[in-house]
Amino acid sequence: MKLLLTVVKHLHKPAVCTSPRRGLSSCASSGGLLAGRDATLIVGSSRELLQRLGSQVEVRADFITEEEEGAFMRELELGLKKKRYEFDHWDDAIHGYRETERLSWGAACEEVLTRVRSVAFDEGSPLLGPVHVLDLDKTGYIKPHVDSVKFCGSTIAGLSLLSDSIMRLVKEDATSEWLDLLLPRRSLYILRNQARYNFTHEILKDEESVFNGQKVPRQRRISVICRNLPG
Ligand code: OGA
Ligand code: MN
Repeated sequence: MKLLLTVVKHLHKPAVCTSPRRGLSSCASSGGLLAGRDATLIVGSSRELLQRLGSQVEVRADFITEEEEGAFMRELELGLKKKRYEFDHWDDAIHGYRETERLSWGAACEEVLTRVRSVAFDEGSPLLGPVHVLDLDKTGYIKPHVDSVKFCGSTIAGLSLLSDSIMRLVKEDATSEWLDLLLPRRSLYILRNQARYNFTHEILKDEESVFNGQKVPRQRRISVICRNLPG
């Protein structure tokens, strides 16, 4: 797989999007890596694709504070610790994970979730009631998939806790078209419309976790995911 990634990188010199902590609103042809406020969070197979998908893919660094991350961990850790990571279902989309759903939250977490909903979803858009919590072991990863169109609507918004990670989007019917999203610890990502329906998404395993040529070590990672209902 490492070899494949190297080959892919040579075939497609990535276009880089540099924008201050916000999705793709301004795209430059080159950008620094993790350079303060101008950290590059999205790279892709071409500038054209970055521009085309611009409004449908967003990564917001530092969306939650360390304290808020702590509040989520205090609410979630006990329940998660009672479960065992699942590794052995070879056909599962997710490897090395445990998960839960939660409908009601303490005040600190609820406040964060209200913020997530207000930036990610249109007002009045009916949401999936329970929030999905996915705990990936350090060796865990999510294989390429598209979320069920039967159960989830046009928008997926996820907080990343405990670890940086890389989310890769690949166009389903044209696999040379791809985007890599660097999801820093405590960031929020949002996938909408085409990015959600026409591209697979995956979370890379530690060995493959390289963003724009730079290793991004994967630790245990917890995501807190909000979705809307199909229209
Ligand atoms: C999923 C998924 C991504 C994440 O559960 O369908 O793609 O951020 N999760 O954990
Ligand atoms: Mn998914």
